[in-house]
Amino acid sequence: MNILAIESSCDETAVAVVCNGRQVLSDCISSQVDIHKIYGGVVPEIASRKHIEAIYPLADQALAVAGITRADVDAVAVTYAPGLIGAVLVGVNFAKAAALALGKPLIPVHHIRDHIAANYITHPDLEPPFLCLVVSGGHTMLVDVQDYTKMEVLGGTRDDAAGECFDKIARVLGMPYPGGAALDRMSRGGDEKKYPLPQAKVDGNPLDLSFSGLKTAAINLIHNALQKSGSNALKNGCAGQEDPSSVIRLAGGGGCHLPPGGKALGETVDVPSLCASVSACVSSALVSRAVLALQQTGRKTLAVAGGVAANSRIRADLSREAQRLGVRLCLPALRYCGDNGAMIGAQGYYEYLAGNTADMTLNAYATKSILGEAL
Ligand code: KG4
Ligand code: ZN
Repeated sequence: MNILAIESSCDETAVAVVCNGRQVLSDCISSQVDIHKIYGGVVPEIASRKHIEAIYPLADQALAVAGITRADVDAVAVTYAPGLIGAVLVGVNFAKAAALALGKPLIPVHHIRDHIAANYITHPDLEPPFLCLVVSGGHTMLVDVQDYTKMEVLGGTRDDAAGECFDKIARVLGMPYPGGAALDRMSRGGDEKKYPLPQAKVDGNPLDLSFSGLKTAAINLIHNALQKSGSNALKNGCAGQEDPSSVIRLAGGGGCHLPPGGKALGETVDVPSLCASVSACVSSALVSRAVLALQQTGRKTLAVAGGVAANSRIRADLSREAQRLGVRLCLPALRYCGDNGAMIGAQGYYEYLAGNTADMTLNAYATKSILGEAL
């Protein structure tokens, strides 16, 4: 069964052709990162417009690379939630038009389920049940994957997602959007013990997490140093040469405005060590919850999903813990951690087998639970 799979929930337009849920025949991506970089984050209206420009030629390209024609498409799968509403709408409307024109089933797929399914491509023998640590840009949660389409959320973040936390700290350090990967690279060789950062424990569910305190502590540390030393505060960092007022502007408002230059009191932030300290802190919070969830559920396989699954520290820490516990660890190949079309084709196949298709009334949603409930 050839599924034409479409993704447009954030800043990548992606179209893939996937055969029987596991065999990727083509996987085409048009990234908008270079455009949004200028603004330090995704500008939703620009994202929607770029998706419209990219999606049609990308779909043609995906068919050509797969070596099939439109007549060989058996179904059309699309991310319908959650995401930037204007962006998701582009993919959904394209998918509806394609399904209608081809006379083939339309399969709506939830984006977190997409990310989980990236593991089916990297690990062809992986089958539910398993536990999945989902760490995407906007979501952090532990999901018990009982079957391909039957899942239970065991815990998650109460505030920022891990990816958001990385991105916001990276932005204050002057790293280009999205900063998670740059922060990861910068942390190599840093001293992770140099900056003790808070690790939140959440009342109630021990599997819940919180990253806003860590984010604020790291950003305050940078601001305090900048206030004392001006832009020269960032030692070995990438923002050292920039105007501090551009360095400290925070996504979503906030931040403080410093006089350009500041007063040189000699206080510096060791950027690699701060990045290493942040990475160690985020990783430890995630790994401890994953271990607890494994113990609670008795699952013998742990999968990881989402853009932050590319983080080298998290991958290393999870590998060590999985080995210690005698648990199988499934990490998606790096190219399947971030947004891509192949994972939509993988999950779409299983949604189809479960009878989860839609008609032309399908809508796009900015938020929806992984179980498809309104939030
Ligand atoms: O899953 P994804 O592509 O988007 C959502 O569906 O939300 O994840 C994007 C996130 C961004 O926050 C990005 O900074 C982060 O993944 N990311 C990383 C790394 N590579 C990407 N975070 C930490 N370390 C990395 N190596
Ligand atoms: Zn995503």
